[in-house]
Amino acid sequence: MGQKLAFLGIETSCDETAASIVQEKNDGTGEILSNVVSSQIEEHKAFGGVVPEVAARAHVEKIESIIKKAVKDSKLKIKDIDGIAATAGPGLIVCLTVGFNAGKAIAGVLKKPFVAVNHLEGHALSPKIIQKIKFPYLLLLISGGHTQFLEVGGVNNYKRLGTTIDDALGEAFDKTAKLMGIEFPGGPKVEEWAKKGDENYFKLPKPIFKKGGCNLSFAGLKTAVLRISKELKNEKEKYHLAASFQKTVVDILNEKTKVAMKEFLKNKEKEKNTFVIAGGVAANLKIRENLIKLAKEKNFSPVFPPVNLCSDNAAMIAWAGIERYKMKLVDNLEFPSKARWPLDASAPFLKGPGLKI
Ligand code: KG4
Ligand code: ZN
Repeated sequence: MGQKLAFLGIETSCDETAASIVQEKNDGTGEILSNVVSSQIEEHKAFGGVVPEVAARAHVEKIESIIKKAVKDSKLKIKDIDGIAATAGPGLIVCLTVGFNAGKAIAGVLKKPFVAVNHLEGHALSPKIIQKIKFPYLLLLISGGHTQFLEVGGVNNYKRLGTTIDDALGEAFDKTAKLMGIEFPGGPKVEEWAKKGDENYFKLPKPIFKKGGCNLSFAGLKTAVLRISKELKNEKEKYHLAASFQKTVVDILNEKTKVAMKEFLKNKEKEKNTFVIAGGVAANLKIRENLIKLAKEKNFSPVFPPVNLCSDNAAMIAWAGIERYKMKLVDNLEFPSKARWPLDASAPFLKGPGLKI
């Protein structure tokens, strides 16, 4: 067996400055030789969310030391790495350019292959670092920036089955938390409060529940939380609101996953399929339990990548780099960073006021 490929991955699309080195293993999965992630939660707490300019400045300050640490931790020498992969989009352009340009500079100086990675492809392929999964598989990505159902047909082959038409699910958790006085990022705290509340206490709306295929919407839910949060009578009602919000999200995800599974199974043989759930919100135990139950009922094996591969990281970028490189999908150094870069270019752009679906 020849030398296995090792790639440096760099990720700065939002509020994590990350670098990692991943090497292929003989069994087709990957070994994470280093995985350095510097989160900017403290920097953004005061603002209640990610501020692009603040995030970009933090990336500029940290990028060099994070990459150096990733190389050092891996015990490899940078000259022995087979290629560089960096996130080119989608994301905040002022943030993306920091890591992307650093990756290009390293590739240029070392004369190594360069792969421009779509952040969503990083998430989509990430479970393959730790376990062998056959294409095609169904992916639900639920993070602070994205909420999508994707059919992962192979490397560079994606079909978007559904997407949020307004807020991402993590954003909905964070905004709900903020309205209840919880610091950013509030998702974990909402889950904690929900344990102490009655999930049937408040009746909250489920926008486009029975229409729009497996597209999702959370803006109306947030507006309802805003209204109720102003009328809360006591501490206990806060817990009820957190629990009712979480229950509504669970119901929405259950309903929409059923639709996505049906779409996914169209024109496919009835064999056992895989359902991957990734993104920071996948850490929520209530959501996990429910999706596992549903997957089993529908004859899908549920896969949750470990939390450090679910939330934003550079190991998934290095891995996507390896997978693309093996398919000769190498880019030149003129490749631009892109704020908007849908994985499935044929999918319609579903956002904006007045949208009817
Ligand atoms: O994938 P991720 O780590 O980062 C980006 O989106 O960039 O996702 C972060 C999101 C945040 O909105 C956070 O509030 C949410 O995931 N989150 C949760 C939980 N843990 C993290 N939401 C609900 N329940 C949780 N336990
Ligand atoms: Zn992400």
